[in-house]
Amino acid sequence: MEILLWRELLDPYRMAVDELVLKFNHIISEYRNEGEYSPIEQVNGRVKKISSIIEKCSKKNISLSDFEEGILDIAGIRIICQFVEDIYKVVEIVRQRSDMRIVREKDFITRSKDSGYRSYHLIIDYTVHTLKGAKTLKVEIQIRTLAMNFWATIEHSLQYKYKKNIPEHIRQRLSNAAAAIVVLDEEMSAVRDVIMDAQDSFQVKANLVTDILNNMQNLYKVANKREIIKIQDEFYRIYKTGDFEELERFNKELDIIAEGYRAQGL
Ligand code: GTP
Ligand code: MG
Repeated sequence: MEILLWRELLDPYRMAVDELVLKFNHIISEYRNEGEYSPIEQVNGRVKKISSIIEKCSKKNISLSDFEEGILDIAGIRIICQFVEDIYKVVEIVRQRSDMRIVREKDFITRSKDSGYRSYHLIIDYTVHTLKGAKTLKVEIQIRTLAMNFWATIEHSLQYKYKKNIPEHIRQRLSNAAAAIVVLDEEMSAVRDVIMDAQDSFQVKANLVTDILNNMQNLYKVANKREIIKIQDEFYRIYKTGDFEELERFNKELDIIAEGYRAQGL
């Protein structure tokens, strides 16, 4: 067998993970900038460790020289959502994109694994461009709720601790916990609309404050400084009352003042 140059071989996978994390994070900001609720709460990614690749190859009887064809989770992305509904929304977002092609799909939510594991798995084809040219590789995307992630993380560490032979009484506990997670996710879904409204208005408020502060900063460059300090004091006063409508009115007035100074867009 030829010598495997791991670093060179894994480099495109590193790039795929970096790009995908960036792209999913950008989706989060697009929603938040619009003052909308984001179906993605958090995203992270990793490239499988060389030792784990070697171990998986031997377990699955894959020749090391074929590891790229045999192991589909060398590049792994994990997307965490607040609600089960969000997971399906994320799957549709991925499905619509032209830079990610779904080649395999497993729904362990409608039908959980025997262990109790729940998650939605996608394998996608993703193309990266390096100095050597374009390379299309497989990436595994796991999409799950915060609660499912909590369970999977605990179960994974127990599997690790017991070297995959979790004692029966602990397995039973995990199974009970998995059932509780199902109920938890269902209960959360039932109050989803209320929670989403609350988060929406929080985001709208955060965006409004950013707007106001930008406006004030722009004005500061062109207007009378003492005037701006007065405006700033007024802003703090209103901010402390927590009166959202008052803040909106204040921002409109600022807009008008800024317009006067032609300060907008500076
Ligand atoms: P591997 O399980 O990765 O060998 O390949 P597969 O083709 O069987 O893929 P599957 O979709 O079943 O699982 C892929 C990944 O999901 C695993 O590598 C784990 O990260 C995760 N996973 C699957 N089952 C479990 C489980 O029972 N518990 C935990 N904690 N994670 C799981
Ligand atoms: Mg498996």
